[in-house]
Amino acid sequence: MPGKSRDSLEPVRWKNGVLEVIDQTRLPGRLVYVRMRTVDQVSSAIRSMKVRGAPLIGVVGGYGLVLAALKIRNGDLSQARSRLRKSADSLISTRPTGVNLRWAVERVFKASSRVDSAATLGDELRREADAILREELEAAHKIGHFGAPLIEDGDTVLTHCNAGSLATARYGTALAVVRSAVEDGKNVSVIATETRPLLQGSRLTAFELSRDGIPVRLICDSAAAQLMARGAVDKVVVGADRILGTGHVTNKIGTLPIALGAKFYDVPFYVAAPVSTLDLVTDVSRVVIEERDQREVLLIGGRRFSPRNVGALNPAFDITPPELVTGIVTDRGVVGQPLAENIRAMFG
Ligand code: MRU
Repeated sequence: MPGKSRDSLEPVRWKNGVLEVIDQTRLPGRLVYVRMRTVDQVSSAIRSMKVRGAPLIGVVGGYGLVLAALKIRNGDLSQARSRLRKSADSLISTRPTGVNLRWAVERVFKASSRVDSAATLGDELRREADAILREELEAAHKIGHFGAPLIEDGDTVLTHCNAGSLATARYGTALAVVRSAVEDGKNVSVIATETRPLLQGSRLTAFELSRDGIPVRLICDSAAAQLMARGAVDKVVVGADRILGTGHVTNKIGTLPIALGAKFYDVPFYVAAPVSTLDLVTDVSRVVIEERDQREVLLIGGRRFSPRNVGALNPAFDITPPELVTGIVTDRGVVGQPLAENIRAMFG
């Protein structure tokens, strides 16, 4: 259906001094917003993954700092800034792997140097957070614009985790590419991995695509290579939580085996992300992989499926080396191989 925007969810909104986000832990059963008035509520929503997806976490983290600033109505400006600094650091520590959170919170914090009285901090920071929301939304549509030509009419696209409206300001990153191809009139269907342990694929990707009328089928994470082996996947498109200057892509755990399978079976493997996901300074050896609570692996829907005396490892992300990536779709265009050289030329 050309021209019709396939994007019916608004994951974050600011209403009369209150930050509202869709509670993603309740999906797909219930579509409800959580209302937040304090920075601590924002930190805990990010930690508990009511809000998740690197670009969305960035936007929401920025507004979290606005909420902290709005509590400071008067008093000494330098004291106010050091209080804000503490709030910023504590927000940033909630999810260490994705780079967008730090990027957005630092950008909003920097806005505090533009005011000359504590009373105007809240308004100034709010302007910056609004700008980030606006720019991230534009970036998502540009990713769709640059990525859509990579998808052919009739393609089946495999995606992992949720890199859709629910992971961004809306419209998505990987799913922006799919949405935009569909809006151009192409027939595209999606295979979504369920994405253990927290099932972002089944709970969120399947939810938002089916809601928007885009054909989607679920698979177990372990079925991806078998489907590629029998030619059932034309392209892989995934999101990213941090892309290094070398082209290493940090994304939801389970991305690396999909990239390995895609390389082996000659399926193009694309990563879609806004420029705010680029980290041109960190070395791959220093990327912190968040290790989450082992109960996320041991329990499913609150029920234990393993012996009581057995523990679990729960790394939340993996790192795909650049040689497995066909191209990176950004809001400034598609970066092809050799990634490091082209990233330097485009963003360095
Ligand atoms: O742990 P999550 O759900 O916050 O994981 C992040 C992701 O959604 C994915 O890794 C995604 O591909 C990057 S965000 C568009």
